Amino acid sequence: MARKISEQDIFSALSQIYYPGYTSDIVALGIVEDVAPAGGGGFAITLRHPGAKEQSLREIGTRIHHVLAHDLGVPNVELKVRKIEPELGEKTGRSRLEGTRWVVAVASGKGGVGKSTVAANLAAALSQSGYKVGLLDADIYGPSMPMMMGTGSERPRSAGGQNFYPIDRYGLKLISIGFFLDDNAPIIWRGPMVMSAVRQFLKDTLWGSQDFLIVDLPPGTGDAQLTLAQQVALDGVVIVTTPQDVALADASRAVRMFRQVHCPLLGVVENMSYFECPDCGERDEPFGGGGGKKMSRVEAMPVLAQVPIYPEIRETGDNGMPLVLAYPNHPASAAFRELARQVATAMPQN
Ligand SMILES: Nc1ncnc2c1ncn2[C@@H]1O[C@H](COP(=O)(O)OP(=O)(O)OP(=O)(O)O)[C@@H](O)[C@H]1O
Ligand SMILES: [Mg+2]
Repeated sequence: MARKISEQDIFSALSQIYYPGYTSDIVALGIVEDVAPAGGGGFAITLRHPGAKEQSLREIGTRIHHVLAHDLGVPNVELKVRKIEPELGEKTGRSRLEGTRWVVAVASGKGGVGKSTVAANLAAALSQSGYKVGLLDADIYGPSMPMMMGTGSERPRSAGGQNFYPIDRYGLKLISIGFFLDDNAPIIWRGPMVMSAVRQFLKDTLWGSQDFLIVDLPPGTGDAQLTLAQQVALDGVVIVTTPQDVALADASRAVRMFRQVHCPLLGVVENMSYFECPDCGERDEPFGGGGGKKMSRVEAMPVLAQVPIYPEIRETGDNGMPLVLAYPNHPASAAFRELARQVATAMPQN
């Protein structure tokens, strides 16, 4: 006779089912509220999610039936969905970050396109123009801010309980997972850990009162992006892309994700758009020209800035001081300041 299927077996099977479009499973996300025995040797499964889309829940339901009935051989699967609340990302489900006037995320679908560089320079340029600015490095896989901001061995001070103070650097308030790691050993993050880390950094940091919180996101459209979009009302998302086609396709994916969760997209920064020969002044476009423009046309978003390739951008990043602070007169600093101006102009007057 076949082994009796336990509730634990059901939970393990359900944890193989991912929330459509994301890397976290439905058990980890808390969508499975309850598993209980039902008639005919079957199980009743109750699903719930404060922000799940109806269509996503339907897809999840189909998968559950398949996995439990077909793969596990459960004779009777009863599915209950408890009250569907506002759609994922609808403003109503998200709170504002207390003391912070505007939250702006810097995102891209692809790695290495210059998100962290843009985030650091945008934050510094906003601060130069008189705003109080915090910078949250939400890239738990490869935090860049400790290096880009040159914080060395400095660590955030505990404020008692769960709370901690951000590090003050160049007049900015900084928090990065990098401040909490002692070595460079890679950590394997599971979806729920990513989500709780981002949540904690947002809510447990004593940011004080500030105009902007700039969030540097990891590449892609995964758990960190989803958590951020769910946890706070984002006032804007800046998409960074290089002119390469593949980067554009990835960036478009990021655009669609933020649209899906109703986050306002401010526009595109085309990074590494060209290289200007320091001797002859001639422009070379190693990744092909006009990519940001092409993308802005396709996605109907403005190009906020075109930032050329300059060795000083990399050097200042490696040396721990953003370009706009180290070389305010550099032509790329002017591009970052223009970006800051446009971002500030686009903020809602709340
Ligand atoms: N316009 C530029 N000119 C020269 N170097 C640049 C430019 N933009 C970024 N870089 C360099 O390219 C590298 C990658 O940039 P950065 O770390 O900002 O990208 P990222 O998108 O945040 O990467 P990841 O996906 O790993 O987080 C860094 O060494 C950075 O200094
Ligand atoms: Mg980065």
